[in-house]
Amino acid sequence: MKILIIGNGAREHALAWKFAQSKKVDSIFIIPGNGGTASIGTNIEADPMDFEALHSLIATRHIDLTVVGPEIPLSEGITDFLQEKGVKVFGPTRHGALVESSKSFSKGLMKKHGIPTADFTVFTDLTSALSHVRNQQFPLVIKADGLAAGKGVFICDTYETAEKALTDMLAGGIFGEAGKKVLVEKFLEGREVSVLALTDGYNLLPLIPVRDYKRICDGNIGLNTGGMGAIADHSLCDQEMHEKIMSRILRPAIDALRAEGINYRGVLYAGVLISNGEPYTLEFNCRFGDPETQVIMPLIENDLIDLMMGTLHSNLDKINITWRKGVALSVVAVSRGYPENFQKGQPITGLDTLSPDVLAFHGGTTLKNGELTVSGGRVINLVTVGESVEACRQKIYEEYKKVEFEKIFFRKDIGL
Ligand SMILES: Nc1ncnc2c1ncn2[C@@H]1O[C@H](COP(=O)(O)OP(=O)(O)O)[C@@H](O)[C@H]1O
Ligand SMILES: [Mg+2]
Repeated sequence: MKILIIGNGAREHALAWKFAQSKKVDSIFIIPGNGGTASIGTNIEADPMDFEALHSLIATRHIDLTVVGPEIPLSEGITDFLQEKGVKVFGPTRHGALVESSKSFSKGLMKKHGIPTADFTVFTDLTSALSHVRNQQFPLVIKADGLAAGKGVFICDTYETAEKALTDMLAGGIFGEAGKKVLVEKFLEGREVSVLALTDGYNLLPLIPVRDYKRICDGNIGLNTGGMGAIADHSLCDQEMHEKIMSRILRPAIDALRAEGINYRGVLYAGVLISNGEPYTLEFNCRFGDPETQVIMPLIENDLIDLMMGTLHSNLDKINITWRKGVALSVVAVSRGYPENFQKGQPITGLDTLSPDVLAFHGGTTLKNGELTVSGGRVINLVTVGESVEACRQKIYEEYKKVEFEKIFFRKDIGL
């Protein structure tokens, strides 16, 4: 089969790496890809948002399966467009992607179908939002309705911070259309875990639970990022909690989507907060996470083709997913300054000296004339599989001594 992956992050590199192990795959194309995917498949410089051009490329290259990594093309209807032309696409339609692209849609769906989540109110008008917030307990959570690249959530400890967030979004337009509608949510206290599941719209195949580390600094402080590291570990949820997450969150969500006329296929990602032993849904995402995918793929024993085709052929109930023993851990190295201003263009060295049991999934890298350079904020993910989180931690931090680029920065507390 010929596979096309849309995206340019370490998530897409991890997917390409996993596809490359399949006997069913002859070639892999990535649009636009990065320095890491260039050594597994063929990067194609094209605009994934130009659906017409994308379709003719898929036709001329005889692509059998197109896998969409990021949420933006999904929310813009890439799947609808390509499916209409007979292309096999992994990823939900525009309506399905609403679970992520509109938090008010998503929370409304949860409320209507009894899926546990924090209480919330939706506002489009600043005056009403402010008068509501004046009567609330703090902290409280304010969220932009639309896609905001992980920057649209504010945990507010005081009325003044809430007022600023609301004013910035509803009057100042800091997120454009995405922030013209906001949610004011009750703050929940607890620990977070993400459970992703493959689905064909009826059946769910849950993946190993993951935890990601969102903030830039050790101790989970500082600015929010796309993700600085992750662990995949079955023991993040005991069996009872896993059962609750499936029966109260993921299964009802798929049933709810179907009840709304949405045949959701692909990955449904539940961000869960466990408070006093009960799971609450923080959000749904309509795609694989980054860096979550980088720790999930190395643990899956199945052929990724079988899993993805299962979502398209509605036979996930016939598939048994099996896992390598152990846990996986990923630490992301960024170019210092990320997620704000950071240096690009500097050479990266040492990746060819890594131990064979460590994987390097590339994010912001470019390979040109044999030279690998930094081209984005989150540069490299080093990933390993081991018996315990602690063993993986030690391994990864030891291996990072070999990797160099100017302004390299990574968290030292992933997995602690
Ligand atoms: N109701 C809530 N109570 C406590 N923390 C929350 C709540 N909602 C969100 N958060 C925190 O904010 C983070 C981002 O919120 P989320 O809804 O996942 O938005 P996004 O990932 O789109 O930025 C969560 O991972 C969590 O740490
Ligand atoms: Mg989130």
